[in-house]
Amino acid sequence: MLDKLERLPPDPILGLAAAAREDSHPNKVDLTVGVYKDEHGLCPVFEAVTKAQELLAQEEVTKAYMPPAGSEDFNAGMQRLLLGAGHPALAGGRVSSVQAPGGCGALRIGAELVYAANPSAKVWVSDPTWPVHIPLLGSVGLEFANYRYYDPATHGVNFDAMVEDLQQAAAGDVVLLHGCCHNPCGADLTLEQWGVIADMAEAQGFLPYVDIAYQGLGDGLDQDAAGLRLLAERVPEMIVAASCSKNMGLYRERTGATIFIAKTPESAEALVSQALVAARRVYSMPPSHGALIAGRILVDQKLDALWRSELVAMCGRINDLRKAIRDKLEAAIQRDFAFIENEKGMFSFLGLSAEQAIRLREEHSVYMLNSSRINIAGVNAKNIDHFASAVAAVL
Ligand code: LMR
Repeated sequence: MLDKLERLPPDPILGLAAAAREDSHPNKVDLTVGVYKDEHGLCPVFEAVTKAQELLAQEEVTKAYMPPAGSEDFNAGMQRLLLGAGHPALAGGRVSSVQAPGGCGALRIGAELVYAANPSAKVWVSDPTWPVHIPLLGSVGLEFANYRYYDPATHGVNFDAMVEDLQQAAAGDVVLLHGCCHNPCGADLTLEQWGVIADMAEAQGFLPYVDIAYQGLGDGLDQDAAGLRLLAERVPEMIVAASCSKNMGLYRERTGATIFIAKTPESAEALVSQALVAARRVYSMPPSHGALIAGRILVDQKLDALWRSELVAMCGRINDLRKAIRDKLEAAIQRDFAFIENEKGMFSFLGLSAEQAIRLREEHSVYMLNSSRINIAGVNAKNIDHFASAVAAVL
């Protein structure tokens, strides 16, 4: 029976990362998967994470299952981190959450609840969006529609087109928004534009669903969450899927949270009960390690301060790299690359064709997605010249 199943092609992001790992070229440059790398090309463990881990290892007395909703410190900490401690939805008792296996698990739980509430809900996704959004949410049974978002000509958001498309989003539909550091394009909404989306959600009755996987990697933890906080003040209901992969470096620990902003405290509790049943169908209960670390950091003032300072340094390095990449490309190519400096987070589209992206890896061992999305953090002082001259050679 099973031998009828054909071998499938590798995942477009993870497959290219694997190809880059196998390339023995001494000057290879891996700009594929969205993993932060330091100046030495390593994805470091945060010192705050190591310290929290040491404390937890000393204190641990059991490996019994986690509670189905996960760690209370983690859930409460994540609600404060995302919404800000004094947020009116928190004060009103209208916020609840469950721990989930990574941002993907969090997205999936939210999608399961959307489907339970309205199986014919249409999910509006930005064009482009993170390619995994479609199978991840679609395998629940939800339908999709695109809203125009990125304009390759300006390297910015085409907000008029976005608004025009979202005017068709009906009550009972879901609009998926990238909280910050848009993946793949790096072009974000301004706070004013978030306000317009809030007006539309209020008037049209669609449900905002915010995927935020890069909080703290754009302008800072609070600034990066400002849009979703504004939305959560204005709309009666909303879902947030958050991840600690990038901003705490907990990638392999699969640490995420689905946060519900509900109409009433009773509904907030009901949503958790629904999420637990959805999780039980798929993975029963979340893994403990990453969430205990994150929860510990978020409740311990010293660890929290250390983590925040490390995150500020990481974000600063990404923003410095954005400027350095712009300068090198402009020197090598005599074109305007200011957009790279102005975008946020780990990603940027270089604006190359798929053929050029393929030539870059085949002829120069410079790996990026075929869409020409690059992971800014994969560039460093040692490889930036090779990167810029390789891009110049295929243009
Ligand atoms: C990416 O877009 O590269 C990251 O979000 C990692 C992934 O799972 O695709």
